[in-house]
Amino acid sequence: MKYLNKLLAKNKYIEDDFIKRLRYLVIGEGMLMAGNIKLMDFAIQNMPNEGCVLEIGSYGGLSTNLIAYLLKKHQKNNLLFNCDAWLYEGYHDHKGVIDKTIDGRNDISRADYSTYMKQSFINATLFLCGSKLPHSFHLFSKDFFEKWNSKESLIDVFGNSITLGGLISFAYIDGGHAYEVAKDDFNNVSKHLVLGGYILLDDSADAMNFGSAKMMDEIKQDKMFKVIDKAPNYLIQKIK
Ligand SMILES: C[S@@+](CC[C@H](N)C(=O)[O-])C[C@H]1O[C@@H](n2cnc3c(N)ncnc32)[C@H](O)[C@@H]1O
Repeated sequence: MKYLNKLLAKNKYIEDDFIKRLRYLVIGEGMLMAGNIKLMDFAIQNMPNEGCVLEIGSYGGLSTNLIAYLLKKHQKNNLLFNCDAWLYEGYHDHKGVIDKTIDGRNDISRADYSTYMKQSFINATLFLCGSKLPHSFHLFSKDFFEKWNSKESLIDVFGNSITLGGLISFAYIDGGHAYEVAKDDFNNVSKHLVLGGYILLDDSADAMNFGSAKMMDEIKQDKMFKVIDKAPNYLIQKIK
C-alpha cells in the first residue's frame, strides 16, 4: 500500500479546473486513479487521427466524460464509443457468495443499483456532452465486439443510430477485471488497433492482484507492443 501511495503521488496529473470539478460532479471518483488521467491525456494527444476511441466499462460516466473532455480540449475529432453491461460487482462475489442485494444493504437490489448507475451515466453524459454525445451501448464487451466485427448498425443508449466497426486509435479497458475477460477485451481491441494506437489497461499496476495485472506480464513479452509509461497502470502502444 505504501508503495502504491508513493507511485500515486509521483504520477499525479496537474488537473485543470474542469477536471477538478468533474471528479466531484460525476459518480465514480473511487474508480479512477489520478495517474490514469495523465496517461489518457498523453494517449489522446499522441494517438493517430484515424480510428475511434473506445472505452470498455463506463460505470457512472466519470472516465467517459473525462475522455470526451480531453478529446475536445486537444481538438481531436475521433469518435468515442463505449460499452458497459452495468453489472453490480459485489465485494465478495469472488468467494462465490452472490447476493441479490448490494453490499451491506438487504433492502436495495443489485438490479436497481444497475438501473441507477446506467441512468446516472446517461444523465451525466447528456449534461456534459450534450452537443457531442459518445456512442454508448448497454452490452457485455464480448457482445459489443461481435457486433463491431460484423459492422452492425445499432441504436445507442441516447437513441442515436451508428454503424459499428473500423479502426481503434485509443482504448481504455476498464470492464471486467478477471483474467479471461481482460484478456478477451485486450485481444479484441488489439485486432482493430491502428499501428501507433494506444491501450490503457486499468488495474494493471505491478502491485495489483487483478487479472489485468497478470495479463500485463504477458503483454510485456509481446513484440507487437511497447510500454510507454506506467502511472501506476500501464499505457502501451502498438508498434508492429
Ligand atoms: C471499474 S468500473 C468502470 C469505471 C469507469 N471506467 C470510471 O472510471 O468511471 C467497471 C465497469 O465495468 C462493467 N463491466 C464488468 N464486466 C463487464 C463486461 N464483461 N463487459 C462490459 N462491462 C463490464 C461494470 O458494469 C462496471 O460498470
